[in-house]
Amino acid sequence: MATLSIDPTTASLKADTKAPRHLASIADLTPEHVAEVFNTAGAMKAAPKPWSTMLSGQSWVMLFEKPSLRTRVSFEVGITKLGGHAMYYDHSKTRIGVRESIKDYAKNLERWVDGIIARTFAHDTLTQLAEHASVPVINALTDHEHPCQALADLFTLKEALGDLGGAKLAWVGDGNNVCHSLMLLAAKLGVSMTIVTPKGFEPQFSVVKSAIADAEQTGATITLTHNLDLIAGHDAVYTDTWVSMGQEDTQSMLRHDAFGGFQVDGELMALASRGLDHASHFMHCLPAHRGEEVTDEVIDSPESLVYDQAENRMWTQNALIALLTGKS
Ligand code: CP
Ligand code: NVA
Repeated sequence: MATLSIDPTTASLKADTKAPRHLASIADLTPEHVAEVFNTAGAMKAAPKPWSTMLSGQSWVMLFEKPSLRTRVSFEVGITKLGGHAMYYDHSKTRIGVRESIKDYAKNLERWVDGIIARTFAHDTLTQLAEHASVPVINALTDHEHPCQALADLFTLKEALGDLGGAKLAWVGDGNNVCHSLMLLAAKLGVSMTIVTPKGFEPQFSVVKSAIADAEQTGATITLTHNLDLIAGHDAVYTDTWVSMGQEDTQSMLRHDAFGGFQVDGELMALASRGLDHASHFMHCLPAHRGEEVTDEVIDSPESLVYDQAENRMWTQNALIALLTGKS
């Protein structure tokens, strides 16, 4: 099987591969952009000091319609590490676009800030901000995608495996926002993915189609199934909460019924490790609902990468900011 293996120590942007202005979706990035982000993130993680004035004099605003621990803290601390100022703006009570139009909102913000980080319910809110703002807009999670998470995740998997070439990643659970971004990024990097969901919870067709188009270029495979037996021989197993933010009041019962058989436990991890020369890693974007989608035994095991993923949110996001602002 042909795969595209990107060596972040040597990769750099080709002259004709202009950096994107915004990151709304993983689809905004080429494999070269991702290699550049991974390269810069690795350099920042190894030696943060030379980057400590990169955003000197800059202010970035962080708009959050939904709760957050990792995204909020990793962006705020990360921007501070780059010498910039990050301001948190709580939009949990009034969604963006209610008090005034999204256009007016973006046109005001661009007069004061150097960049916008937004966590919104509707993906359309995020893309409208990007359409109207002259400063970079970064998707910090929408109902449709979580691109910053996917960048940190595949950077983390590369750290764990040494190389992503020929890697196989299994997704177990909801075909949700995190799954969408991960699938799009895996396909671009030649990482094959098996996505195991209950019936009715598959990822969106448009995203699958886009991932398959990229996978055809890189030699990766994207497999959708309802059969958990197919996770045998995967380098990592990834899961996420069964009930995403915003679904708690209306879908909680229905989802707990549907996902009951999809818990990642020791037995499933043993199946995933079958035929590998290492134990399969466990991944989760967090927050986790211990005892639901994953057991304590698995999330606390030596194979669990969850806290590395959380740490790497900061390094990959800082590297992404460097890419979007032309500073990497
Ligand atoms: N993984 C993630 O985005 O976590 P938060 O919701 O805490 O930001
Ligand atoms: N799918 C989850 C991810 C949280 C980081 C949600 O949208 O709530």
